[in-house]
Amino acid sequence: MMIKEVSIREGDILRVTGPARIEVLSGSILAVGAAYGKGSSIVIHRFRSYGVKAIRNSKLRVTLGSDGVLEGPVERCEEVIDEWLSIVENIYKDSLDRGVLVAVLGPIESGKTTFTAFLANYFVQRGRRVAIVDADIGQEDVAIPTTIALTEPNKPFIWQRELRPTDIRFAGCISPQYCQTALLAAILDLIRVARERGYDGIVVNTDGWISSHQAIIYKINLIRWVRPTHVVILGRDIGEVLLRALPKGVRVYIAPRPLKVRERAREDRRRLRAEAYARYFANARVREVKLSDVKLINSVVLLGKRLEGRELEELANDPLLKTLLDNSLYVSLLNKVLNVVVKEGVGDLVMGRTQSYSINVVRPSDVKGLVVGVLDERMNDVAAGVVEGIDFSKGVIKVRTPWDGGIGALVLGDVKLLRNYEDSRRSAKCLV
Ligand SMILES: Nc1ncnc2c1ncn2[C@@H]1O[C@H](COP(=O)(O)OP(=O)(O)OP(=O)(O)O)[C@@H](O)[C@H]1O
Ligand SMILES: [Mg+2]
Repeated sequence: MMIKEVSIREGDILRVTGPARIEVLSGSILAVGAAYGKGSSIVIHRFRSYGVKAIRNSKLRVTLGSDGVLEGPVERCEEVIDEWLSIVENIYKDSLDRGVLVAVLGPIESGKTTFTAFLANYFVQRGRRVAIVDADIGQEDVAIPTTIALTEPNKPFIWQRELRPTDIRFAGCISPQYCQTALLAAILDLIRVARERGYDGIVVNTDGWISSHQAIIYKINLIRWVRPTHVVILGRDIGEVLLRALPKGVRVYIAPRPLKVRERAREDRRRLRAEAYARYFANARVREVKLSDVKLINSVVLLGKRLEGRELEELANDPLLKTLLDNSLYVSLLNKVLNVVVKEGVGDLVMGRTQSYSINVVRPSDVKGLVVGVLDERMNDVAAGVVEGIDFSKGVIKVRTPWDGGIGALVLGDVKLLRNYEDSRRSAKCLV
């Protein structure tokens, strides 16, 4: 650990990479859109870096952790803070007439999350009510990946991980291309909720899937349905592409990306996701619910008609099916697909099809660790959960969730968690 005391002149900008703590000994600084005066302090996480600007001549005490770095004052052309500030001031002015809805887009590591916080803080410090829809499904900071969240910051913050959601929506994946429809619906639904609450500003942070043409087209359609008053695009290249698709009435700002950022490797991102799951499920308990009471949305096994007794015996006359059915715990038929849940540990019995049926073999372990959305009886999202186990023959499912009210349905997604909360995509083969 290292402690440095630095004096900076009004207008000077420092770049600080975490882990770090900055105490303002005198003067005042601007960090992520908010002013911090004498006696206040901010903490910068080890995976983050920020530009910090002196609003007045200031004296700071900076404590750096092992990888922490303090640079500067940096050249003004090397920092984005002034340009961001002027965009935010413009949007703020527009909000004085009528509530604004701002969509923030850009590639990975382009500053979307920071810009979102910057704008929200600017509003908060001026006593305006602002909401954030954190719709970056893969790097969701406010709730957990697989969900998106609505949050209402009421004091300045550095990183969205300091905030808690007022509402979440489960979309079920951590890469937007795999759940585009659910994600779009979730975003629109949270915007609807936010609008009903009458905020002065709503900021929608999005994911960084934007470089392929499918991704760009998806983002354009997102903008089409969100119908924001302002669009902020981080990065000139992608900004120019999107501009070609947006009509004149949408106010578009192309904002510069921070130049030297604390980048996160794939492993760091996975770690950050694990931390988010761990925090969310820390106070959760295991609920055991009956499959007859609770619906499983996206489960093909339970959509099919259950086959038992005579019907199963008849099927087992087919020698191709006999061993499989002898080892089954639950069998259902949907259209021409025979879903067979087999006992754990049974060797690979998977067969493609018989003359009459395609076969879908499922093991109870295929469901274990699956992240699910928890809905109440009227299909409102109330929480997320993790499947601890499912017993198809007894008809019960165990799910860990912080929710303790009634459960109407569980929505299966395509992400599984291990014990240490590392996530992976479940195989597309196992149609639970
Ligand atoms: N002015 C700045 N100077 C240096 N680094 C910055 C600055 N602003 C933000 N950063 C850092 O840049 C990195 C990327 O920023 P941010 O997380 O806001 O981008 P993002 O587009 O939301 O990324 P992701 O695609 O992972 O969601 C972060 O480590 C952030 O702390
Ligand atoms: Mg982000």
